[in-house]
Amino acid sequence: MLELQNIEKAYGPARVLDGVTLLARPGQIHAVLGENGAGKSTLVKIAAGLVRPDAGLVAVNGDPLKAFTPRAAREAGVEIVTQELTSVPARTVLENVFLGHRVVAVGSVQRSKHARQRFAEVCEECGFSLPGDAIAADLSIADRQILEVLRCLIRRPKVLILDEPTSSLDEERAHRLRVLLRRLSDAGTTVLFISHFLNEVLETADWVTVLRDGRLISSGPTEEETEASLINKMVGRTLSVLYAPKTLPPAEAETVLEANDIWWGSAVRGVSLHVRRGEIVGLAGLIGAGRSEFARCLVGAAKPDRGTVRIAGGPPIRPRNPRRAISAGLVMVPEDRKQQGLVLGRSVAENLALSKPQTSGHLGFALPRRLEDAARDWIRRADIRPASPAAVVGELSGGNQQKVLLSKWLACGPKILIVDEPTRGVDVGAKAAIHEMLAQAAASGVGVLLISSELEELLGLAHRIVVFRKGEVVDEVEGEASERERIMTAAFGAAGMGADE
Ligand SMILES: Nc1ncnc2c1ncn2[C@@H]1O[C@H](COP(=O)(O)OP(=O)(O)OP(=O)(O)O)[C@@H](O)[C@H]1O
Ligand SMILES: [Mg+2]
Repeated sequence: MLELQNIEKAYGPARVLDGVTLLARPGQIHAVLGENGAGKSTLVKIAAGLVRPDAGLVAVNGDPLKAFTPRAAREAGVEIVTQELTSVPARTVLENVFLGHRVVAVGSVQRSKHARQRFAEVCEECGFSLPGDAIAADLSIADRQILEVLRCLIRRPKVLILDEPTSSLDEERAHRLRVLLRRLSDAGTTVLFISHFLNEVLETADWVTVLRDGRLISSGPTEEETEASLINKMVGRTLSVLYAPKTLPPAEAETVLEANDIWWGSAVRGVSLHVRRGEIVGLAGLIGAGRSEFARCLVGAAKPDRGTVRIAGGPPIRPRNPRRAISAGLVMVPEDRKQQGLVLGRSVAENLALSKPQTSGHLGFALPRRLEDAARDWIRRADIRPASPAAVVGELSGGNQQKVLLSKWLACGPKILIVDEPTRGVDVGAKAAIHEMLAQAAASGVGVLLISSELEELLGLAHRIVVFRKGEVVDEVEGEASERERIMTAAFGAAGMGADE
């Protein structure tokens, strides 16, 4: 159904794809795996006509694409959900879904009965629904991800490509998406997806292709693979996924962050907690439990209705202004690197320097040697690839952008660091590097507030875990593996898995 033959692609001197061939049959669920920067996104963008290869052939159902344009690929029946969100923020859900769709003219979508009916049908069929009149910018990241899927499905693709589709979904929605993919494939659609979740690949895909440094390493039935065999193919060596033992903060370590009775709309309901110097406090809960909203309240990115925050021993304040939080030593690495945090057109070194207000004047000029050296140091610690301070951030792979973002905020020497899903979309090796960076930051005295939907990550890193449900703190436990059950039960509520989101 989808045929990629001998694809070559280079950006300047960097060879991104080196003679890659991939064949996906009708009705197959085909996973593409590889480390950050292996060339996965580039490969699937070529299949969807978004990137032109230097050499090679793309064919759908035996017919070569007429041109390497999105339109030609779309006419051949290929639809893609890219790694970055592409919906137009100021437009409604309906407008986004029908953008460029020939059946309904732009501008009249909102009034078109036909469009509404078709949209309702697709929502019904796929088991995900969104309010058609909502503005895309107002949706959560998870819902914007769903929006992109709906936009593809409305066109009934023969080949559906998804680049890390579950990286911003909670476990329940990720599961529903996997069920949907299975249903589509049963109906004959070819599904090609990229994921860093090995269990997801093993569970969902029929076939798995592994890339390393732009080369094809293997392509075969998933049933012949295990988690270990896949990691081995991806990184070319065996990797330990174990967490290092935790360094406990000293008993007398003072409190660096204290939140008192924070309220924000109906999303955050009277939350109090504290973080001590050198302590990693994890926030567990389902997506939508209010953890990100609470974090945004702490830095003043959302303005709490009630409650106070004390930063580094300062007076209790009602946060109003993220910049003031930063100068007090409280920084947050947001969940969505695409919307906040990185200047995509600037170099790695410039982005790393940007967090320090006093150096921002250098933007656009040659960076001082000192900053370039500092950048090299972060590049090494975070294993950012390519390892060049001059590399443009927008041209890095998704996972490497994530590493730059975290480094940028660590580089400004915070007293308290809030990280929201810091390892979403990074590969197994990079994940270990990020864990190490967080543990080191804590060991050097930073108080860390870690939001993660991955329980393993919380248990592996946090000294203490606070569990959120529906905007409230419902439990607090030691960060011990033995607490897993208790955390799950608290997060889901007594009703049990899935029933109480
Ligand atoms: N427009 C571009 N200009 C220059 N280099 C690019 C561009 N797009 C991608 N690259 C480079 O191509 C390589 C492969 O990138 P790609 O995005 O395909 O990786 P990936 O396998 O999807 O990684 P990730 O898991 O991090 O998303 C990277 O080294 C990246 O820096
Ligand atoms: Mg990618």
